[in-house]
Amino acid sequence: METERLRLRRFTADDLDLLIELDSDPEVMRFLTGQATPREEIKNVVLPGMLEVYGEHPGLGTFAAEEKDGGAFVGWFGLQPTADAATVDVGYRLNRRSWGKGYATEGTKMLIAYAFTEIKVERVVADTMAVNHRSRAVMRRSGLRFVRLWHEEFEDPLPGTEFGEVEYALERRTWEAGRRA
Ligand SMILES: CC(C)(COP(=O)(O)OP(=O)(O)OC[C@H]1O[C@@H](n2cnc3c(N)ncnc32)[C@H](O)[C@@H]1OP(=O)(O)O)[C@@H](O)C(=O)NCCC(=O)NCCS
Repeated sequence: METERLRLRRFTADDLDLLIELDSDPEVMRFLTGQATPREEIKNVVLPGMLEVYGEHPGLGTFAAEEKDGGAFVGWFGLQPTADAATVDVGYRLNRRSWGKGYATEGTKMLIAYAFTEIKVERVVADTMAVNHRSRAVMRRSGLRFVRLWHEEFEDPLPGTEFGEVEYALERRTWEAGRRA
């Protein structure tokens, strides 16, 4: 899969260090866990979990993104299955040097098109903390629309949890109408 500036591919067992470096930046993890992910957790849980999804859900999963020009790793984009077979969840995590270039929106738009045309789902959803404004802007720019805000109880809540979580979504027919416009 590719966009104008990015190439997306499946992760392999050799990509451990790329994922460790990405999750080692507390600013990248600010609205996720608030801290770097331990190496052992990426090795034993995160990466094996990603590889498992490829086998169980053809076409879905977490994809490494690299610049076409030079091959630098920029982070990942994901399309994950949900409890509803006609709905997939889109997500993204880019390293900080790749922010502010339009890469997240570029990759997300491509994955949304891929979800509707290749996976043939009816709905794409995304969620984040209400205070994650950069992520919400990517959702809006990618055509997803605000659906709801809700509150969750966490044992060790991140700063901003009190403002809740938000869900955005895009239906197939809205996406198709947007393409014709
Ligand atoms: C969320 C995240 C992916 C957003 O990345 P981003 O770079 O802000 O998003 P975009 O790719 O849409 O880039 C938009 C910015 O690039 C700028 N830009 C520069 N060149 C551009 C171009 N050629 N095309 C489009 N935008 C461009 C835009 O003006 C905009 O700048 P602004 O933020 O100052 O308004 C990133 O902050 C991230 O990885 N965060 C950590 C992980 C995370 O929180 N993930 C979401 C959890 S649900």
